Amino acid sequence: MTAGAPVITLDGPGGAGKGTLASELARGLGWWLLDSGALYRLVGLSALREGLNPGADADRARAAVIAQGLAVHFVPDTGAGQRVELAGADVTDAIRADDVSEAASRWAALPAIRQALLARQRDFVVPPGLVADGRDMGTVIFPQADLKLYITASAHERARRRYAQLSEKGVAANLERIYREIVERDQRDASRDAAPLKPAADAHVIDTTGEDVATSLEKIHDLVAAKGWRVD
Ligand code: DC
Repeated sequence: MTAGAPVITLDGPGGAGKGTLASELARGLGWWLLDSGALYRLVGLSALREGLNPGADADRARAAVIAQGLAVHFVPDTGAGQRVELAGADVTDAIRADDVSEAASRWAALPAIRQALLARQRDFVVPPGLVADGRDMGTVIFPQADLKLYITASAHERARRRYAQLSEKGVAANLERIYREIVERDQRDASRDAAPLKPAADAHVIDTTGEDVATSLEKIHDLVAAKGWRVD
């Protein structure tokens, strides 16, 4: 049990359906939601705006200061999910841009950035409970979590989902390129020294390949119900 309130962690690679499952679960439980990836994306966005380079010492120090002081505000949305504000400006869509995804992944590999975001992530543990979505929620940030889930899907399936998402928005996309980028990013997230992407030893692994959201959510609800929590 985590001090203060119960915590459920969802970790796994990008595009596995984690974000949707985490926000549906938080809504069903009436708990708070931490989208930790959004914090790394905000660092990436701010660093891009300031033209910072993760390879330069002075820029890394500046980015750690930015990470420590991020004026972020998560605003509950009427649909599933939430909007993200940085210093009062809505950046929900801006932080999903490809260059920001790329920057977030690079800055997230740096221990100083991860350290700068550590305490602020733990501050999200507030009654009645927290659903935390990320890469190292169950391994590093909330090792005492009450329930740990590792959500995964094949790289091909994740590429297809991303492609469908972009097509739906009318954005021209190349499936092969998306696949290659996903594999590269997985590689970087899993092979970095600082909090590499991997399931916690006590995590339940849920593979969403070929599954719709409702089916995956049902599996999660069974695990949650077994803990005695009520989901609507
Ligand atoms: O989940 P996402 O795609 O929004 O995450 C953006 C980037 O941040 C991704 O490259 C992985 C990284 N990240 C991380 O290193 N640790 C987390 N807890 C969450 C995200």
